[in-house]
Order: sequence, then structure tokens, then C-alpha cells
Amino acid sequence: YPTKLVLGIETSCDDTAAAVVDDTGKILGEALHSQNEVHLKTGGIIPPVAQQLHRENIERIVKETLYVSGISLDELSAVATTVKPGLALSLGVGLEYSLKLVDKYKKPFIPIHHMEAHALTIRLINQVEFPFLVLLISGGHCILVVAQGVSDFLLLGQSIDIAPGDMLDKVARRLSLTKHPECCRMSGGKAIEHLAQQGNRLHYELRAPMRHHRNCNFSFSGLCFNATRIIMQKEKEEGLQEGHLLSCVTDIAAAVQHAVALHIVQRTHRAILFCIKSGILSQTNATLVVSGGVASNQYIRRALQIVTDATNFNLLCPPPRLCTDNGVMIAWNGIERMRAGLGVLHSTDGIRYEPK
Ligand code: KG4
Ligand code: ZN
Repeated sequence: YPTKLVLGIETSCDDTAAAVVDDTGKILGEALHSQNEVHLKTGGIIPPVAQQLHRENIERIVKETLYVSGISLDELSAVATTVKPGLALSLGVGLEYSLKLVDKYKKPFIPIHHMEAHALTIRLINQVEFPFLVLLISGGHCILVVAQGVSDFLLLGQSIDIAPGDMLDKVARRLSLTKHPECCRMSGGKAIEHLAQQGNRLHYELRAPMRHHRNCNFSFSGLCFNATRIIMQKEKEEGLQEGHLLSCVTDIAAAVQHAVALHIVQRTHRAILFCIKSGILSQTNATLVVSGGVASNQYIRRALQIVTDATNFNLLCPPPRLCTDNGVMIAWNGIERMRAGLGVLHSTDGIRYEPK
């Protein structure tokens, strides 16, 4: 029987999300409002705009979640909310709202680390025991960590500049892919994956960066720069204005996708070898979990599968809707933390939201 019910609230970036999850991993209800359309128009997230949109939607999203769950606030065991990392203005909306709720209904509060929640989402779906390796690749994240316990993470590598999704979005924007007849309404990464299927990656040379760096860090801004240079050169050759290239976008997309995949796979391979050599992960029953928006890329997944097959790792990916930002992972992290007897606050006196 489920004995715990946690309401999770997520507002760290551009999604207002909530969910109720019980300690058997059952999702009783969830709701999400994406600000993506608005941010697409402005070519990126403007923090005060994101804050305003969170304010307009948080109450509706939480009420909808509770309604769908058939749960009243009184029945909850705790409220779990993302408190870091993220955009300060966005985080503040979720935190402020949550503190009001826990105050009014006298509920324990569980502060959640967004990245830890991403990393442990898989445990709601599969029985994965600690320790396991996690690769998180999205528009805002790029990290390789070993999850050793509910609140015990070993950071092996991270991007020294931008995240892969951010890079794919920038290249897609430079190619005006939102205006491409086949790709309107697709995210940048999805558009590149779609076009790459029709392209030949060998027509352009884009090298994977950091091949001689003896660590597990990533870098995507050089790739972004080189891709932009190829696009500019092609536009010049054809006498086209910026963003009007049509003829070879599929080949460029294929080359970009391949370089991103190769880089991700090379760094992950290093991490796997390091974990085996140092005894952090066992050679016989180790798991690589891949999550984040970029993890839905089938080309990148197939490339990762080659590495995990060769090293005897299991490759696991949460379903796409749990790979991107959501309320379920926050509620689930609340359950995990309660079960581990960690960080449940019975008074939120010390927590203040201080608007900047
Ligand atoms: O996890 P997510 O929704 O949130 C952020 O952290 O931003 O990831 C969104 C990112 C975007 O950059 C998007 O271009 C990328 O994931 N993405 C993809 C694919 N679908 C979404 N990248 C590559 N291939 C895809 N199929
Ligand atoms: Zn995230």
C-alpha cells in the first residue's frame, strides 16, 4: 500500500510543472505548462518574462494536478520543490508558492536539486540499484555523474561552455529551420535529426572536440562556431542572404549531428572505462542512464548503444516525457528523499524567497 504522497513542483527554467507521485512510483496526476512558444519568438529565454509566465500559471497547474490525482492538499505527506539550480527569478515563483502551501496546510517541505531529480527519474520506471552512471544531455544541461546514493553524486565531467541542445538550437536558428517546410514547430535538435536522415555527413568535415583532453568534460561552442563558418561560406558561395540556405542543409545537419554524437560518445566511453578501472562500477552489472531532451535523438542513442554493448553496460533511457523537465521527477525525488530519511523540513522558517 502506498503510504506516502508527494506533490512535486518545478519552475526552474521555462516549464511550470507539477505532479503527485506515491511511494510505489505511481503517478497519480500531473500537469505542465510550457513557455516554449513565447521564448521561440524572442529567440531565447528572457528571465523576467519567464517569471511572469510562471506566476500566471503556477496556481492553475497545481490545482489541475491535484484535481486529476483526486487528492486534496490535506492528504499529502509533503511538498517537494526545485530550489536549485536554475534561473533565480523562475525558481522563486515555485518556491514562494510552495512555501505558502506548506505554511497553510502544515506540511513538511522537501527542497529538491533539479539535476539530482533528473538523475534519479529512471528509478521510478526501472529497478536500478546504486551506483549507476548518468549522462544528462539537454538544452541547459550536459553532465556525466555517478549516482551513488539518493543524495550522493560523483561528478565526472560537464560542459565547459554550452550544452549540446543549446548548440543544436543555435545551428538550427542560423539555418532558419523554423521556416523550413519540413521542420516548423520542431525544436532545433529535432529539426536537425529530421533533416540529417536525408543528408550525407561526409560532405562536410566537423571534428569532434577535445579528443586529446584526458578528462570527461565536454565542449560544444567550438562545434557551433565551425558549423556557423561552414554555413556562412556556403551562403557566400551561393550569393545568398543569411538564413536562406536551402540546398545543402541536410548534409550540414548530418555532419553536425554526427560530430555531436561522436563527441558525446567519446566522453561517455572515457567515463565508462574510468568507472570500471577504478572499481566505482562493477564490470558485470553496470548501467548507463541517458536523459535530457537530446537523449531522444535516435542517432545519438544508437551511437551510445554501440559503446554500452562493447563494455557490457545496460543502456537505459526514461520515456521522453520524463527526460525533459517535469513535475514527476521532482515529486519522485521527494519520495526518494523521504524514504532515505533525508532533508525533509518541518519548518520553513529559515527559507525565504528574496526577489533580486
Ligand atoms: O530537456 P529539455 O526539454 O530542456 C532543456 O534543458 O532545455 O531539452 C530541450 C533540448 C533542446 O535544445 C532541443 O533542441 C533538444 O533538447 N532536443 C533534441 C531532440 N529533441 C529535443 N536534440 C537532438 N535531437 C532531438 N530529437
Ligand atoms: Zn532540466
